[in-house]
Amino acid sequence: MENRRITIIGGGNLGSAIAEGLIRTEQVKNENITVTRRKVYLLDALKEKGVKVTTDNVAAAKDADIVFLVVKPFQVIDILNEIKPVLTSRMIVVSMVTGTSLSDLQTVIGDRIPLFRGMPNTAIALCESITCLSFDPKWEEQKETIISLFNLLGTTAVINEELMAAATVLGSCGIAFALRFMRAAMQGGIEIGFSAEMAQFITAQTMKGASELILKSNHHPEREIDKVTTPRGITISGLNEMEHQGFSSSLIHGLITSFEKMGGAKK
Ligand SMILES: NC(=O)c1ccc[n+]([C@@H]2O[C@H](COP(=O)([O-])OP(=O)(O)OC[C@H]3O[C@@H](n4cnc5c(N)ncnc54)[C@H](OP(=O)(O)O)[C@@H]3O)[C@@H](O)[C@H]2O)c1
Repeated sequence: MENRRITIIGGGNLGSAIAEGLIRTEQVKNENITVTRRKVYLLDALKEKGVKVTTDNVAAAKDADIVFLVVKPFQVIDILNEIKPVLTSRMIVVSMVTGTSLSDLQTVIGDRIPLFRGMPNTAIALCESITCLSFDPKWEEQKETIISLFNLLGTTAVINEELMAAATVLGSCGIAFALRFMRAAMQGGIEIGFSAEMAQFITAQTMKGASELILKSNHHPEREIDKVTTPRGITISGLNEMEHQGFSSSLIHGLITSFEKMGGAKK
């Protein structure tokens, strides 16, 4: 991976997070990473780490082995048209753009350029993303490169493209949903006696521990919950009260609302 040149077109929240993650892996040389955006001065922090920054999408794409598209949906088609003349079949294009399908992108660049869709989350900056990937089976040869790259940045799941909207909600928006849970738990923690800092620390580590319990054991969450809930105990009383107030139901409604706002199942 060390000598691969990676260009990130759109160094905003996610694009910069990807660059940070790539640096953290130490598997890609910083000078082999290029990030573009129009307000390039906002990329100074990456520039100081040796990452190339530029406003020139065409030059950045021309030199790349892998091109990440990390712009807003309404920007991606114009940008693809702009860089299309320098794209070749030895490159790999990975679009992180929400709601823009492989076939939308292929309409612009044709079917000769290896093309992937990836849906990560901002934990990619810490190499802790879940990145859902979709691609046409004909890119079998490039598949390992892309999966290995995203495995350096967290972990990956290959999914049918029709599940991309669902992946966006569960994995990408999911960061915000989990953080809102964290904030609510902190607010409760403060009311029962902790400082905001200590409530944040205890809540964040508890969420990390809960995640690790599931990731390492593959147990259903309820199996781990059963270990914490003694009959007539305090945990089950709190949990049941949360459910009476609509905890699970509100979470599911929120997920479905986000999903519907994306236009449903297709993209
Ligand atoms: N944020 C997430 O957690 C997340 C997760 C999964 C997928 N996504 C998807 O990733 C994409 C980017 O999301 P984001 O949250 O990172 O948005 P963002 O912060 O707005 O970043 C988009 C970036 O694109 C740059 N840009 C716009 N026009 C450009 C051009 N012509 N050439 C080069 N750069 C250009 C913008 O910078 P300038 O205005 O300075 O050019 C901006 O920094 C979206 O499609 C989003 O749905 C985001």
